[in-house]
Amino acid sequence: MLVFRQLFDPASSTYSYLLGDLPSGEAVLIDPVLEQAQRDATLVRELGLTLLATLDTHVHADHITGAWALHHETSSMIMLAKESGAEGANRYLTQGDEVAFGTRRLLVRATPGHSNSCLTFVLDDHSMAFTGDCLLIRGNGRTDLQQGSPARLYHSVHSQIFSLPETCLLYPAHDYRGLTVTSVAEERRFNPRLGAGTSVTEFTSTMQNRQLAHPKLIDIAIPANLRCGRPEHEPASVS
Ligand SMILES: [Fe+2]
Repeated sequence: MLVFRQLFDPASSTYSYLLGDLPSGEAVLIDPVLEQAQRDATLVRELGLTLLATLDTHVHADHITGAWALHHETSSMIMLAKESGAEGANRYLTQGDEVAFGTRRLLVRATPGHSNSCLTFVLDDHSMAFTGDCLLIRGNGRTDLQQGSPARLYHSVHSQIFSLPETCLLYPAHDYRGLTVTSVAEERRFNPRLGAGTSVTEFTSTMQNRQLAHPKLIDIAIPANLRCGRPEHEPASVS
């Protein structure tokens, strides 16, 4: 049986996702937030799960990952994309890798475009996928920071996400309007920038004409996330 919890950080509007396999009790947590690490560790314990790993979909610019704090608390492994250049992870992921927890697996797909190191994690039976900031609900992540590229994001969404079954549920890293989940069918039809036959040229021009404010925490979050959330004063070794 799959244990599945969608968790929310109100300060950054970030969703984290806990996936556990019963009866083995092995679990993974996608996109943990530093300020919620204690909440998440308590939940894992209360559910009788063992946190094998935290997985970050990318190097976030708007919050600090809870990966290091949870590693410290629960000995969970830290995993994120090899392309990230982050130091201190236990495992660096690339396209086609698999992350096993109990009898279940997450399949790793490279979906660059919001940043150069974005990953999407697809559950083994293709019933759900965790899209980070690549594909949001009726939207997508910005492409003007962190080696972002509209053309790469367009290609990632169409080749790696829209190619999943129409019924596949899609869970993003953020939503700012209170929506929690979407599906491949919904986004193919209703995503105003990427769905309904929009071309890469139209998408690129839309993204290039956006005027977005600099993320408030970017100067703090990116350096911290390139250390997987380890505070600067803590020693660098990961056991
Ligand atoms: Fe992001």
